[in-house]
Amino acid sequence: MPNCLIDPLETALPIQAVREDAYKKWRDAQDGTVQSWLAATGFKGKGGDTALLPGDGGPSGAVYVIGGNDDRGGLWAWASLWDGLPGGCYHIDTELSATDAYDAALGFALASYRFERYRNPEDLEKEAANRPFLVWPEGCDRDSVRGAHGASVLVRDLINTPASDMGPAELAAAARELAEASGATYREVVGVDLIREDYPAVYAVGRGAEESRAPRLVEFTWGREDAPEVTLVGKGVTFDTGGLDIKSSSGMKLMKKDMGGAAHALGLASMVMAAKLDVRLRVIVAAVENSVSGTAMRPLDVIGTRKGLSVEIGNTDAEGRVILADALALASENQPDIILDFATLTGAARVALGSELPGLFCNDDGWADDILRAGVATADQMWRLPIYQPYKKQTKSKIADLRNDTDSSYGGAITAALFLQAFVGEGVSWAHVDLMGWNLSAQPGKPEGGEAMSMRAIFSVLAKRYGS
Ligand code: BES
Ligand code: MN
Ligand code: ZN
Repeated sequence: MPNCLIDPLETALPIQAVREDAYKKWRDAQDGTVQSWLAATGFKGKGGDTALLPGDGGPSGAVYVIGGNDDRGGLWAWASLWDGLPGGCYHIDTELSATDAYDAALGFALASYRFERYRNPEDLEKEAANRPFLVWPEGCDRDSVRGAHGASVLVRDLINTPASDMGPAELAAAARELAEASGATYREVVGVDLIREDYPAVYAVGRGAEESRAPRLVEFTWGREDAPEVTLVGKGVTFDTGGLDIKSSSGMKLMKKDMGGAAHALGLASMVMAAKLDVRLRVIVAAVENSVSGTAMRPLDVIGTRKGLSVEIGNTDAEGRVILADALALASENQPDIILDFATLTGAARVALGSELPGLFCNDDGWADDILRAGVATADQMWRLPIYQPYKKQTKSKIADLRNDTDSSYGGAITAALFLQAFVGEGVSWAHVDLMGWNLSAQPGKPEGGEAMSMRAIFSVLAKRYGS
């Protein structure tokens, strides 16, 4: 529950919300005190700006300038309202469209997030006095805001939690908690049982970790049994040292976020279940720690996979595609309507698109078009990258069916996607999102740290296709 959004309150200060292009007209209609105050404080009235307005012995309210005419959409512009307000309670005193009301509430809630787990409760309580609260805007779909906000908080909290408190067991426990709260059927295959139940690739990547951090395959299913099946798959590498092809210290630093794909699968699942979409939802998470040890997988080892394809480990740091191989093979066994996988898979995708824009790989143009369009509409964009078949030869091994790296340093996000595709069943629609899952620095509504990227966009596609 976003506790920065509150029920109507007598004492809440009114906020006038004015469109950027109507700001001058609004200002000129104010009384002299307000006009000279705005002039004296140098208020420009740019989209996203907020100014307190003078009253007897304190502010009488605020003006907020609605921005967001660019690609970011209104949501992130609205999110800046939170940054612009001092502690206190406010309500928006202007009639808003349903979209603006939604963006205002969700933007405000997303902006108010902080990762509290290791903070002193007394400090948090003190800070609470300086935080703004907003009365739920009228006409806003509160359930949708709650669904999107709750899922974003889940994703952010899971990613922000350091690997010391977020190993494979804890990631699995988070999945179990979500599953049980929604009445889903949960199962988990742990450690050597992965060999017995035929998940050799998940085991190979995770076997180097200490026993309390044993690798796991996590699965839960929810919803009407004969509804169309939607399968979410997540890369859950709770820490990626790189294995024996060990990462540099700068390359390793953020790798607690390497379970971000799994966090996205869980966050999206929470939205699907909260909205009760008419789907048979299946969530599959491969949870491992990629660690350096005497039992870790070595460069040029050859491993088996659930699909039966052998994989030569050219680089133990290309571990995500290896665990996803088994997860995608399992996902394909039921011939679902769509498989959606989420992974912090390659540095190459970040070189291509930067940290904020996930890459979308999709073998189905109908799904791809819907997802890209929804990305723009929900201010949660992706950019499509090609599953370019001529590069497939780069993933062939001389001694096994596939290799997990390539000789070339180019096109690494594409060759990773091509590797994954080898494990997706023939004729199954599949979308793969290669994402950062992390804000490198704070922007309105996006605090530094773990972040959900593509989740709201993809939910909106699922809601359109499977909503009642
Ligand atoms: N988790 C990383 C990819 C990553 C790094 C994502 C930084 C986001 C930010 C992944 O497991 C990895 O190490 N990939 C290697 C693959 C290479 C060894 C073929 C990479 O991208 O360098
Ligand atoms: Mn890696
Ligand atoms: Zn990784």
